[in-house]
Amino acid sequence: MDALPWSLFSAMIRNGPGEGCHGMIVARARSRRQFLRFLVGSPFMTWGARSSAGESPAPPQRLPDPMVWAPRDLETLIANPKDAVNVFDFEAVARKNLPPAHFGYLVAGVDDEVTLRANREGFLKFQLRPRRLVDVSKIDTRCTILGLAYDSPIFICPTASNRAFHPDGEVAVARAAKVGNHLQMLSTVATTSIEETTAARGAPIWFQLYASPRWQIAEALIKRAEAAGSPGIVVTVDDLGGRNQETLLRLRRSDTRQCSSCHAPGWGYVARKPNYDGLDMSGLSTIMAPHMTWEIIKRLRDTVKIKLLLKGIMSHEDARLAAANGIDAIIVSNHGGRSEDSGRSTIDALPEIIEAAGSMPVLVDSGFRRGTDIVKALALGAKAVGIGRPCLWGLGAFGQEGVERVLELLRAELRVAIQQVGAPSLEHLAPAMVRRA
Ligand SMILES: Cc1cc2nc3c(=O)[nH]c(=O)nc-3n(C[C@H](O)[C@H](O)[C@H](O)COP(=O)(O)O)c2cc1C
Repeated sequence: MDALPWSLFSAMIRNGPGEGCHGMIVARARSRRQFLRFLVGSPFMTWGARSSAGESPAPPQRLPDPMVWAPRDLETLIANPKDAVNVFDFEAVARKNLPPAHFGYLVAGVDDEVTLRANREGFLKFQLRPRRLVDVSKIDTRCTILGLAYDSPIFICPTASNRAFHPDGEVAVARAAKVGNHLQMLSTVATTSIEETTAARGAPIWFQLYASPRWQIAEALIKRAEAAGSPGIVVTVDDLGGRNQETLLRLRRSDTRQCSSCHAPGWGYVARKPNYDGLDMSGLSTIMAPHMTWEIIKRLRDTVKIKLLLKGIMSHEDARLAAANGIDAIIVSNHGGRSEDSGRSTIDALPEIIEAAGSMPVLVDSGFRRGTDIVKALALGAKAVGIGRPCLWGLGAFGQEGVERVLELLRAELRVAIQQVGAPSLEHLAPAMVRRA
Protein backbone atom coordinates (compact mmCIF):
# COMPACT_ATOMS: atom_id res chain seq x y z
CA MET A 1 0.00 0.00 0.00
CA ASP A 2 2.96 2.23 -0.55
CA ALA A 3 2.88 5.58 1.22
CA LEU A 4 -0.72 5.63 2.35
CA PRO A 5 -0.76 5.94 6.11
CA TRP A 6 -2.55 3.19 7.98
CA SER A 7 -4.53 5.77 9.93
CA LEU A 8 -5.99 7.05 6.70
CA PHE A 9 -6.86 3.61 5.51
CA SER A 10 -8.49 2.70 8.80
CA ALA A 11 -10.40 5.98 8.76
CA MET A 12 -11.94 4.87 5.48
CA ILE A 13 -13.02 1.64 7.01
CA ARG A 14 -14.38 3.32 10.14
CA ASN A 15 -16.41 5.90 8.27
CA GLY A 16 -17.57 3.65 5.50
CA PRO A 17 -18.31 4.73 1.98
CA GLY A 18 -20.48 7.80 1.59
CA GLU A 19 -19.64 9.23 5.03
CA GLY A 20 -17.21 11.89 4.01
CA CYS A 21 -14.59 9.28 3.25
CA HIS A 22 -13.57 10.74 -0.06
CA GLY A 23 -13.15 14.23 1.31
CA MET A 24 -11.07 12.93 4.16
CA ILE A 25 -8.79 11.05 1.82
CA VAL A 26 -8.18 14.09 -0.28
CA ALA A 27 -7.59 16.21 2.76
CA ARG A 28 -5.18 13.83 4.41
CA ALA A 29 -3.24 12.45 1.49
CA ARG A 30 -0.13 14.47 0.89
CA SER A 31 -0.72 14.81 -2.82
CA ARG A 32 -2.98 13.66 -5.58
CA ARG A 33 -0.17 11.48 -6.79
CA GLN A 34 0.14 9.75 -3.45
CA PHE A 35 -3.59 9.15 -3.45
CA LEU A 36 -3.53 7.62 -6.91
CA ARG A 37 -0.64 5.40 -5.95
CA PHE A 38 -2.70 4.22 -3.01
CA LEU A 39 -5.70 3.49 -5.18
CA VAL A 40 -3.63 1.41 -7.57
CA GLY A 41 -2.34 -0.71 -4.69
CA SER A 42 -5.61 -0.75 -2.83
CA PRO A 43 -7.57 -3.93 -2.38
CA PHE A 44 -10.64 -1.81 -3.03
CA MET A 45 -9.56 -1.41 -6.64
CA THR A 46 -10.76 -4.17 -8.86
CA TRP A 47 -8.35 -6.21 -10.80
CA GLY A 48 -10.04 -4.89 -13.94
CA ALA A 49 -8.45 -1.47 -13.63
CA ARG A 50 -5.00 -2.93 -14.19
CA SER A 51 -6.17 -5.32 -16.86
CA SER A 52 -7.77 -2.54 -18.85
CA ALA A 53 -4.44 -0.69 -18.77
CA GLY A 54 -2.92 -3.70 -20.50
CA GLU A 55 -0.98 -4.96 -17.46
CA SER A 56 -1.18 -8.52 -16.34
CA PRO A 57 -3.54 -8.78 -13.40
CA ALA A 58 -1.87 -8.62 -10.00
CA PRO A 59 -3.43 -10.47 -7.11
CA PRO A 60 -5.33 -8.22 -4.70
CA GLN A 61 -3.41 -7.32 -1.58
CA ARG A 62 -4.78 -8.86 1.57
CA LEU A 63 -5.78 -6.95 4.61
CA PRO A 64 -4.42 -8.16 7.93
CA ASP A 65 -6.59 -11.01 9.06
CA PRO A 66 -7.93 -10.72 11.67
CA MET A 67 -8.17 -6.95 11.62
CA VAL A 68 -6.74 -5.27 14.68
CA TRP A 69 -9.52 -2.94 15.70
CA ALA A 70 -8.11 -2.02 19.08
CA PRO A 71 -4.35 -1.99 18.78
CA ARG A 72 -2.56 -1.43 22.06
CA ASP A 73 -1.35 2.12 22.42
CA LEU A 74 1.70 2.05 24.67
CA GLU A 75 1.40 5.78 25.30
CA THR A 76 -2.04 5.40 26.85
CA LEU A 77 -1.38 4.01 30.30
CA ILE A 78 -3.88 2.68 32.77
CA ALA A 79 -4.33 4.99 35.75
CA ASN A 80 -5.95 2.39 37.98
CA PRO A 81 -5.14 -1.32 38.37
CA LYS A 82 -8.80 -2.15 37.85
CA ASP A 83 -8.56 -0.73 34.31
CA ALA A 84 -6.05 -3.40 33.28
CA VAL A 85 -7.41 -5.87 30.77
CA ASN A 86 -4.41 -8.17 30.99
CA VAL A 87 -1.11 -8.38 32.85
CA PHE A 88 0.82 -6.66 30.06
CA ASP A 89 -0.96 -3.39 30.85
CA PHE A 90 1.21 -3.07 33.97
CA GLU A 91 4.56 -3.29 32.21
CA ALA A 92 4.27 0.07 30.47
CA VAL A 93 3.19 1.75 33.72
CA ALA A 94 6.14 0.21 35.56
CA ARG A 95 8.41 1.51 32.80
CA LYS A 96 7.07 5.01 33.34
CA ASN A 97 7.40 4.82 37.14
CA LEU A 98 10.77 3.15 37.53
CA PRO A 99 14.26 4.55 37.02
CA PRO A 100 15.67 3.15 33.77
CA ALA A 101 18.28 1.02 35.56
CA HIS A 102 15.67 -0.64 37.80
CA PHE A 103 13.30 -1.20 34.91
CA GLY A 104 16.22 -2.63 32.92
CA TYR A 105 16.99 -5.04 35.77
CA LEU A 106 13.34 -6.12 35.86
CA VAL A 107 12.87 -6.85 32.18
CA ALA A 108 16.29 -8.00 30.99
CA GLY A 109 17.10 -11.46 29.73
CA VAL A 110 20.66 -12.36 28.77
CA ASP A 111 22.70 -12.00 25.57
CA ASP A 112 20.33 -11.92 22.58
CA GLU A 113 17.35 -12.69 24.81
CA VAL A 114 16.56 -15.73 22.73
CA THR A 115 15.42 -17.72 25.76
CA LEU A 116 13.38 -14.79 26.99
CA ARG A 117 11.42 -14.77 23.73
CA ALA A 118 11.34 -18.56 23.46
CA ASN A 119 9.55 -18.71 26.81
CA ARG A 120 6.64 -16.83 25.26
CA GLU A 121 6.78 -18.39 21.80
CA GLY A 122 6.94 -21.86 23.33
CA PHE A 123 3.27 -21.69 24.24
CA LEU A 124 2.37 -21.46 20.55
CA LYS A 125 3.86 -24.91 20.07
CA PHE A 126 1.11 -26.34 22.24
CA GLN A 127 -2.61 -26.24 21.58
CA LEU A 128 -5.48 -26.95 23.91
CA ARG A 129 -7.81 -29.79 23.01
CA PRO A 130 -11.09 -29.06 24.77
CA ARG A 131 -13.73 -31.53 25.84
CA ARG A 132 -17.39 -30.51 25.68
CA LEU A 133 -20.59 -31.26 27.55
CA VAL A 134 -18.95 -31.44 30.92
CA ASP A 135 -20.61 -29.54 33.78
CA VAL A 136 -18.22 -26.65 34.32
CA SER A 137 -20.69 -24.34 36.01
CA LYS A 138 -18.44 -24.48 39.08
CA ILE A 139 -14.66 -24.36 38.81
CA ASP A 140 -12.42 -25.39 41.67
CA THR A 141 -8.80 -24.19 41.44
CA ARG A 142 -7.75 -25.22 44.94
CA CYS A 143 -4.63 -27.33 45.14
CA THR A 144 -2.24 -28.93 47.57
CA ILE A 145 1.45 -28.32 47.05
CA LEU A 146 3.73 -30.54 49.11
CA GLY A 147 1.00 -31.01 51.69
CA LEU A 148 -0.06 -27.37 51.96
CA ALA A 149 -3.40 -26.06 50.71
CA TYR A 150 -3.63 -23.05 48.39
CA ASP A 151 -6.57 -21.51 46.54
CA SER A 152 -4.74 -21.47 43.24
CA PRO A 153 -1.92 -23.34 41.48
CA ILE A 154 -0.38 -19.95 40.64
CA PHE A 155 2.65 -19.21 42.82
CA ILE A 156 4.83 -16.15 43.15
CA CYS A 157 8.41 -16.71 42.05
CA PRO A 158 11.29 -15.55 44.20
CA THR A 159 12.62 -12.27 42.84
CA ALA A 160 15.42 -10.17 44.26
CA SER A 161 15.32 -6.61 45.54
CA ASN A 162 11.60 -5.89 45.34
CA ARG A 163 12.11 -2.49 46.97
CA ALA A 164 13.81 -1.42 43.76
CA PHE A 165 10.32 -1.48 42.24
CA HIS A 166 8.23 -0.04 45.08
CA PRO A 167 9.05 1.11 48.62
CA ASP A 168 6.79 -1.61 50.08
CA GLY A 169 8.69 -4.31 48.14
CA GLU A 170 8.20 -7.88 49.27
CA VAL A 171 5.70 -6.81 51.95
CA ALA A 172 3.35 -5.53 49.24
CA VAL A 173 3.80 -8.77 47.31
CA ALA A 174 3.11 -10.82 50.45
CA ARG A 175 -0.09 -8.92 51.18
CA ALA A 176 -1.24 -9.44 47.61
CA ALA A 177 -0.40 -13.15 47.87
CA LYS A 178 -2.48 -13.32 51.03
CA VAL A 179 -5.56 -11.91 49.27
CA GLY A 180 -5.59 -14.78 46.78
CA ASN A 181 -4.00 -17.34 49.13
CA HIS A 182 -1.06 -17.94 46.79
CA LEU A 183 2.17 -19.71 47.60
CA GLN A 184 4.94 -17.11 47.79
CA MET A 185 8.65 -17.82 47.48
CA LEU A 186 11.10 -15.30 48.91
CA SER A 187 14.49 -14.63 47.38
CA THR A 188 17.71 -14.91 49.40
CA VAL A 189 18.47 -11.38 48.23
CA ALA A 190 15.05 -9.96 49.03
CA THR A 191 14.99 -6.46 50.45
CA THR A 192 12.76 -7.70 53.29
CA SER A 193 13.68 -10.46 55.72
CA ILE A 194 12.03 -13.87 55.80
CA GLU A 195 10.48 -13.04 59.17
CA GLU A 196 8.98 -9.71 58.09
CA THR A 197 7.66 -11.13 54.82
CA THR A 198 6.14 -14.13 56.61
CA ALA A 199 4.37 -11.75 58.99
CA ALA A 200 2.98 -9.76 56.04
CA ARG A 201 1.81 -12.92 54.27
CA GLY A 202 0.20 -14.15 57.49
CA ALA A 203 1.30 -17.69 56.63
CA PRO A 204 4.56 -19.52 56.00
CA ILE A 205 6.46 -18.65 52.83
CA TRP A 206 9.04 -20.70 50.96
CA PHE A 207 12.66 -19.61 51.01
CA GLN A 208 14.81 -19.54 47.86
CA LEU A 209 18.50 -20.21 48.41
CA TYR A 210 21.51 -18.83 46.61
CA ALA A 211 23.97 -21.04 48.42
CA SER A 212 27.13 -18.93 47.84
CA PRO A 213 30.56 -20.56 47.76
CA ARG A 214 30.73 -20.67 51.57
CA TRP A 215 28.94 -23.54 53.32
CA GLN A 216 28.44 -21.60 56.57
CA ILE A 217 26.35 -19.00 54.74
CA ALA A 218 24.10 -21.56 53.06
CA GLU A 219 23.69 -23.44 56.31
CA ALA A 220 22.84 -20.34 58.31
CA LEU A 221 20.33 -19.14 55.70
CA ILE A 222 18.36 -22.36 55.52
CA LYS A 223 18.34 -22.83 59.30
CA ARG A 224 17.04 -19.29 59.67
CA ALA A 225 14.29 -19.99 57.13
CA GLU A 226 13.35 -23.19 58.93
CA ALA A 227 13.19 -21.33 62.24
CA ALA A 228 10.97 -18.69 60.59
CA GLY A 229 8.45 -21.44 59.81
CA SER A 230 9.24 -21.85 56.14
CA PRO A 231 7.88 -25.17 54.82
CA GLY A 232 10.46 -25.48 52.07
CA ILE A 233 13.85 -24.41 50.75
CA VAL A 234 14.04 -23.75 47.02
CA VAL A 235 17.65 -24.17 45.92
CA THR A 236 18.32 -22.26 42.71
CA VAL A 237 20.71 -24.26 40.56
CA ASP A 238 20.65 -22.35 37.28
CA ASP A 239 22.26 -19.04 38.15
CA LEU A 240 25.96 -19.69 38.22
CA GLY A 241 27.19 -16.15 38.57
CA GLY A 242 28.15 -14.85 35.16
CA ARG A 243 25.57 -13.27 32.90
CA ASN A 244 25.41 -10.60 30.25
CA GLN A 245 22.26 -8.52 30.66
CA GLU A 246 22.56 -6.10 27.78
CA THR A 247 19.12 -4.56 28.20
CA LEU A 248 20.03 -3.68 31.76
CA LEU A 249 23.45 -2.36 30.77
CA ARG A 250 22.05 -0.13 28.04
CA LEU A 251 19.13 1.21 30.08
CA ARG A 252 21.46 1.88 32.99
CA ARG A 253 23.42 4.28 30.78
CA SER A 254 20.35 6.47 30.43
CA ASP A 255 19.84 6.59 34.22
CA THR A 256 21.02 9.94 35.47
CA ARG A 257 20.75 9.13 39.18
CA GLN A 258 23.75 8.56 41.41
CA CYS A 259 23.58 4.77 41.75
CA SER A 260 26.59 4.35 44.02
CA SER A 261 24.69 5.73 47.00
CA CYS A 262 22.71 2.46 47.09
CA HIS A 263 24.94 0.15 45.09
CA ALA A 264 28.39 0.16 46.63
CA PRO A 265 30.98 -1.28 44.26
CA GLY A 266 31.39 -5.06 44.30
CA TRP A 267 29.11 -7.24 46.45
CA GLY A 268 28.93 -4.83 49.37
CA TYR A 269 25.34 -3.81 48.75
CA VAL A 270 24.21 -7.42 48.33
CA ALA A 271 25.73 -8.32 51.68
CA ARG A 272 23.47 -5.71 53.28
CA LYS A 273 20.32 -7.63 52.28
CA PRO A 274 18.39 -8.48 55.44
CA ASN A 275 18.52 -12.26 55.10
CA TYR A 276 22.31 -12.00 55.50
CA ASP A 277 22.07 -10.12 58.81
CA GLY A 278 24.75 -11.34 61.19
CA LEU A 279 26.57 -13.41 58.56
CA ASP A 280 30.20 -12.96 57.65
CA MET A 281 30.12 -12.04 53.95
CA SER A 282 33.68 -10.77 53.83
CA GLY A 283 35.88 -12.01 51.04
CA LEU A 284 33.00 -13.29 48.90
CA SER A 285 33.09 -12.39 45.22
CA THR A 286 29.70 -13.91 44.42
CA ILE A 287 26.57 -15.07 46.18
CA MET A 288 25.98 -17.78 43.56
CA ALA A 289 27.25 -21.31 43.84
CA PRO A 290 28.97 -22.39 40.63
CA HIS A 291 30.63 -25.19 42.59
CA MET A 292 27.25 -26.77 43.47
CA THR A 293 27.05 -30.55 43.00
CA TRP A 294 24.72 -33.33 44.14
CA GLU A 295 26.96 -33.82 47.22
CA ILE A 296 26.22 -30.28 48.36
CA ILE A 297 22.52 -30.79 47.68
CA LYS A 298 22.65 -33.86 49.92
CA ARG A 299 24.37 -31.82 52.62
CA LEU A 300 21.63 -29.19 52.40
CA ARG A 301 19.02 -31.96 52.47
CA ASP A 302 20.49 -33.34 55.68
CA THR A 303 20.72 -29.93 57.35
CA VAL A 304 16.99 -29.15 57.56
CA LYS A 305 13.88 -31.22 58.12
CA ILE A 306 11.65 -29.14 55.83
CA LYS A 307 11.08 -29.79 52.12
CA LEU A 308 13.89 -29.28 49.64
CA LEU A 309 13.19 -28.21 46.06
CA LEU A 310 15.52 -27.56 43.13
CA LYS A 311 14.76 -24.58 40.90
CA GLY A 312 16.20 -24.44 37.40
CA ILE A 313 15.91 -28.03 36.16
CA MET A 314 15.70 -28.16 32.35
CA SER A 315 16.48 -31.78 31.41
CA HIS A 316 15.00 -35.20 32.09
CA GLU A 317 18.42 -36.46 33.22
CA ASP A 318 18.53 -33.97 36.09
CA ALA A 319 14.89 -34.63 36.95
CA ARG A 320 15.72 -38.32 37.34
CA LEU A 321 18.74 -37.52 39.50
CA ALA A 322 16.65 -35.22 41.66
CA ALA A 323 14.09 -37.96 42.26
CA ALA A 324 16.87 -40.46 43.00
CA ASN A 325 18.42 -38.00 45.48
CA GLY A 326 15.22 -37.66 47.49
CA ILE A 327 14.38 -34.12 46.39
CA ASP A 328 10.80 -33.25 47.34
CA ALA A 329 9.93 -31.32 44.16
CA ILE A 330 11.59 -29.55 41.24
CA ILE A 331 10.85 -26.32 39.43
CA VAL A 332 11.35 -26.39 35.68
CA SER A 333 12.80 -22.94 35.13
CA ASN A 334 15.33 -21.05 33.05
CA HIS A 335 15.13 -18.10 35.42
CA GLY A 336 12.79 -16.30 33.04
CA GLY A 337 15.53 -16.27 30.40
CA ARG A 338 17.87 -14.47 32.80
CA SER A 339 20.48 -17.15 33.38
CA GLU A 340 21.13 -18.73 29.99
CA ASP A 341 20.43 -18.11 26.33
CA SER A 342 19.96 -21.72 25.29
CA GLY A 343 16.81 -20.83 23.39
CA ARG A 344 14.76 -23.56 25.04
CA SER A 345 11.49 -22.62 26.70
CA THR A 346 10.31 -24.27 29.88
CA ILE A 347 6.99 -25.38 28.37
CA ASP A 348 9.04 -27.21 25.74
CA ALA A 349 11.15 -28.95 28.39
CA LEU A 350 8.20 -29.76 30.63
CA PRO A 351 6.88 -33.01 29.04
CA GLU A 352 10.22 -34.88 29.15
CA ILE A 353 10.75 -33.75 32.73
CA ILE A 354 7.28 -34.75 33.89
CA GLU A 355 7.86 -38.18 32.44
CA ALA A 356 11.21 -38.57 34.17
CA ALA A 357 10.05 -37.17 37.51
CA GLY A 358 7.74 -40.06 38.35
CA SER A 359 5.85 -39.24 41.54
CA MET A 360 8.07 -36.25 42.44
CA PRO A 361 5.98 -33.07 41.95
CA VAL A 362 7.05 -30.77 39.14
CA LEU A 363 6.42 -27.02 39.23
CA VAL A 364 7.26 -24.69 36.37
CA ASP A 365 7.87 -20.99 35.67
CA SER A 366 9.23 -18.65 32.97
CA GLY A 367 7.10 -16.74 30.51
CA PHE A 368 3.65 -17.49 31.93
CA ARG A 369 1.36 -14.53 31.21
CA ARG A 370 -2.03 -16.01 30.30
CA GLY A 371 -4.55 -18.41 31.78
CA THR A 372 -4.12 -20.60 28.70
CA ASP A 373 -0.33 -20.76 29.27
CA ILE A 374 -0.98 -21.95 32.81
CA VAL A 375 -3.60 -24.51 31.86
CA LYS A 376 -1.26 -26.00 29.23
CA ALA A 377 1.41 -26.63 31.86
CA LEU A 378 -1.08 -27.99 34.39
CA ALA A 379 -2.66 -30.33 31.84
CA LEU A 380 0.81 -31.58 30.91
CA GLY A 381 1.21 -32.52 34.57
CA ALA A 382 2.77 -29.54 36.35
CA LYS A 383 1.61 -29.17 39.93
CA ALA A 384 1.82 -25.37 39.99
CA VAL A 385 2.95 -22.47 37.82
CA GLY A 386 5.16 -19.58 38.91
CA ILE A 387 4.85 -15.94 37.93
CA GLY A 388 7.90 -13.67 37.99
CA ARG A 389 7.95 -10.40 36.08
CA PRO A 390 4.19 -9.74 35.89
CA CYS A 391 4.04 -9.46 39.70
CA LEU A 392 6.91 -6.98 39.53
CA TRP A 393 5.22 -5.01 36.76
CA GLY A 394 2.19 -4.76 39.04
CA LEU A 395 4.39 -3.80 41.98
CA GLY A 396 6.26 -1.14 40.03
CA ALA A 397 3.03 0.22 38.61
CA PHE A 398 0.76 0.38 41.67
CA GLY A 399 2.39 -1.37 44.64
CA GLN A 400 0.29 -3.98 46.43
CA GLU A 401 -2.85 -3.14 44.44
CA GLY A 402 -0.98 -3.75 41.22
CA VAL A 403 0.25 -7.17 42.32
CA GLU A 404 -3.24 -8.03 43.56
CA ARG A 405 -4.74 -7.16 40.21
CA VAL A 406 -2.09 -9.08 38.26
CA LEU A 407 -2.89 -12.17 40.29
CA GLU A 408 -6.63 -11.55 40.01
CA LEU A 409 -6.41 -11.31 36.22
CA LEU A 410 -4.37 -14.51 36.01
CA ARG A 411 -6.81 -16.34 38.28
CA ALA A 412 -9.74 -15.14 36.20
CA GLU A 413 -8.09 -16.16 32.92
CA LEU A 414 -7.13 -19.51 34.40
CA ARG A 415 -10.71 -20.22 35.46
CA VAL A 416 -11.98 -19.51 31.97
CA ALA A 417 -9.25 -21.63 30.38
CA ILE A 418 -9.97 -24.54 32.72
CA GLN A 419 -13.66 -24.22 31.99
CA GLN A 420 -12.97 -24.12 28.26
CA VAL A 421 -11.07 -27.41 28.25
CA GLY A 422 -13.94 -29.01 30.16
CA ALA A 423 -12.35 -29.54 33.56
CA PRO A 424 -14.38 -28.65 36.68
CA SER A 425 -11.24 -28.86 38.84
CA LEU A 426 -7.48 -29.17 38.49
CA GLU A 427 -7.75 -32.93 39.01
CA HIS A 428 -9.77 -33.15 35.81
CA LEU A 429 -6.98 -31.66 33.70
CA ALA A 430 -5.31 -34.34 31.59
CA PRO A 431 -2.42 -34.53 29.09
CA ALA A 432 -4.96 -35.37 26.36
CA MET A 433 -6.23 -31.79 26.67
CA VAL A 434 -2.96 -30.53 25.15
CA ARG A 435 -1.27 -31.42 21.90
CA ARG A 436 1.94 -30.26 20.23
CA ALA A 437 1.05 -27.95 17.38
C1 LIG B 1 13.91 -9.00 38.63
C2 LIG B 1 14.03 -10.49 38.84
C3 LIG B 1 14.74 -10.95 39.91
C4 LIG B 1 14.86 -12.33 40.12
N1 LIG B 1 15.52 -12.78 41.23
C5 LIG B 1 15.59 -14.10 41.48
C6 LIG B 1 16.17 -14.58 42.66
O1 LIG B 1 16.63 -13.83 43.49
N2 LIG B 1 16.22 -15.93 42.84
C7 LIG B 1 15.73 -16.82 41.93
O2 LIG B 1 15.80 -18.03 42.12
N3 LIG B 1 15.11 -16.37 40.80
C8 LIG B 1 15.03 -15.05 40.56
N4 LIG B 1 14.40 -14.61 39.44
C9 LIG B 1 13.78 -15.59 38.52
C10 LIG B 1 12.34 -15.89 38.96
O3 LIG B 1 12.31 -16.59 40.16
C11 LIG B 1 11.61 -16.72 37.90
O4 LIG B 1 12.32 -17.90 37.65
C12 LIG B 1 11.37 -15.98 36.60
O5 LIG B 1 11.17 -14.61 36.83
C13 LIG B 1 10.15 -16.56 35.91
O6 LIG B 1 10.02 -16.01 34.62
P1 LIG B 1 9.05 -14.79 34.26
O7 LIG B 1 9.66 -13.57 34.83
O8 LIG B 1 9.07 -14.81 32.77
O9 LIG B 1 7.69 -15.09 34.84
C14 LIG B 1 14.27 -13.24 39.21
C15 LIG B 1 13.54 -12.74 38.13
C16 LIG B 1 13.42 -11.39 37.94
C17 LIG B 1 12.60 -10.89 36.79
